[in-house]
Amino acid sequence: MNSKNSIDFLTREYRDKTILETLQLLAEKFKNKIVFSTSFSYEDQMITDIIFSNNLPVKVFTIDTGRLFYETYKVFNSTLGKYKKPIRVFYPDFKKVEKIVTEKGPFSFYESIENRLECCHARKVEPLKRALKGMNCWITGLRSDQSPARQLIASFEWDEANSILKYNPLCQMSFEEVKKYIKANHIPYNILHDKKFISIGCAPCTRAIEAGEDFRAGRWWWESNTKKECGLHNKKK
Ligand code: ADX
Ligand code: SF4
Repeated sequence: MNSKNSIDFLTREYRDKTILETLQLLAEKFKNKIVFSTSFSYEDQMITDIIFSNNLPVKVFTIDTGRLFYETYKVFNSTLGKYKKPIRVFYPDFKKVEKIVTEKGPFSFYESIENRLECCHARKVEPLKRALKGMNCWITGLRSDQSPARQLIASFEWDEANSILKYNPLCQMSFEEVKKYIKANHIPYNILHDKKFISIGCAPCTRAIEAGEDFRAGRWWWESNTKKECGLHNKKK
């Protein structure tokens, strides 16, 4: 099945299925070749709960960029404690990080977009490529109302950059719906969410948002003319 056909087929076939039913079918279809990437956000914690509570055969991984918040490690740790299931960790290539920080210092990403993308590439994009290698289906916590740039996200997409089918189960859900699920099911969550940190990435590149700002306004806030993406979800090569 080519990529376009598979997207059309899955979109049609799974239209009326719940997230759990869809994940079950995908796990069967892509046996041992299906992974979920978590950054321990509200969205990701909801998907983790569905996967782990139902013992779905889906591998779960996270990318530790080396610059995450202490609070993110706390929710990582409480998630391990609650579900007693493995979460594989991918780290950046230490040689690349050593070179960047030695040559440009620890805050090079504030100096130019090129430097920021260089850091995101080394700390996120390259480890993601390794995590997705050999896999056929990638599950993410993307939602379409997270930012104007994400409005066109669909449940099923083809990620050209990694040659992989992407499933975004929460793409049509609102932030409030996800939050409700987290609270109702007593799922561990990043306490920074309670301090107006809505979208949470690396500590030096994330701040709380103010009233009226969009969900991703707290990411790379010093850049005004970019799409505020790090390259994980670029789709194109
Ligand atoms: S990002 O591209 O700006 O960093 P965002 O934080 O909105 O992405 O998260 C969107 C989705 O990307 C998450 O639901 C998760 O699937 C994946 N993701 C983001 N950061 C990580 C990470 N550090 N490790 C694993 N997956 C991640
Ligand atoms: Fe580097 Fe900031 Fe990108 Fe994290 S978000 S990888 S610290 S530039």
